[in-house]
Amino acid sequence: MKILILATKNEAVERTVRLLHTAIRKKPNLVLGLATGGTMLDVYQSFAKSALSAGLETDKLTTFNLDEYIGLPANHPQSYRTYMNDNLFANLNIPLSQTYIPRGDALDPEEEAHRYEALLSAAGGLDFQLLGLGENGHIGFNEPSSSLASRTRVKTLTRSTRDANRRYFGCDEGVPKLAITMGIRSIMDAKSIVLLATGSEKAQAVFDMIEGPVSASCPASALQFHQNTTIILDQSSAAELRNTEYYQHVHKDGV
Ligand code: PGA
Repeated sequence: MKILILATKNEAVERTVRLLHTAIRKKPNLVLGLATGGTMLDVYQSFAKSALSAGLETDKLTTFNLDEYIGLPANHPQSYRTYMNDNLFANLNIPLSQTYIPRGDALDPEEEAHRYEALLSAAGGLDFQLLGLGENGHIGFNEPSSSLASRTRVKTLTRSTRDANRRYFGCDEGVPKLAITMGIRSIMDAKSIVLLATGSEKAQAVFDMIEGPVSASCPASALQFHQNTTIILDQSSAAELRNTEYYQHVHKDGV
């Protein structure tokens, strides 16, 4: 794992955006795995703006999102399809037909999960996967106890995930209980992975992911087995780490 600790959240976001630029410049037809959540809002805003000003070619990308709530049609205001269209795709030169997100309103969600995994495989797998981190250590909606060998499937959301996302739905009843998510194995097959976590509420999960044992109790700890993962942190999310001196020695101030 390459562990970059930046001084501020803003610098962590900008570093993430820079890595995206570099990857797309190197391979304009990148198969790009995308995440949602509050952390990614700043990333997408900055990425869309800088892609435009830098003349970055984005029309050849193929994107696969990690997950979608079951029961929400694509045009639901809280669906991840709406989130992606509004926060990224609308501001980027990319045909929507090249952007994939599981269908939350599929009649048979299990079948939809299989279809999604097959689409991913037909696209040749992920070149680059962008990840956020749940306070409980989840990546995608792979909640604690998820099989580290899992593929895209239906998962039940934990109480803590539903609590964390309640702010978007207005009331507890509105937060879906199930989601379709790429599995941990599907994510681990990506050629490179960049995970961004900021804020003190992520500090325990960051410790578990980097310095804890590899365990389904912290799904993100599976990344310890990945050969090309970069973890981008700010000071607050890195606060519980024990080996900070070493990480700073290797990549001073995230350089
Ligand atoms: P957040 O979510 O960016 O809203 O904290 C991250 C996640 O749950 O993966």
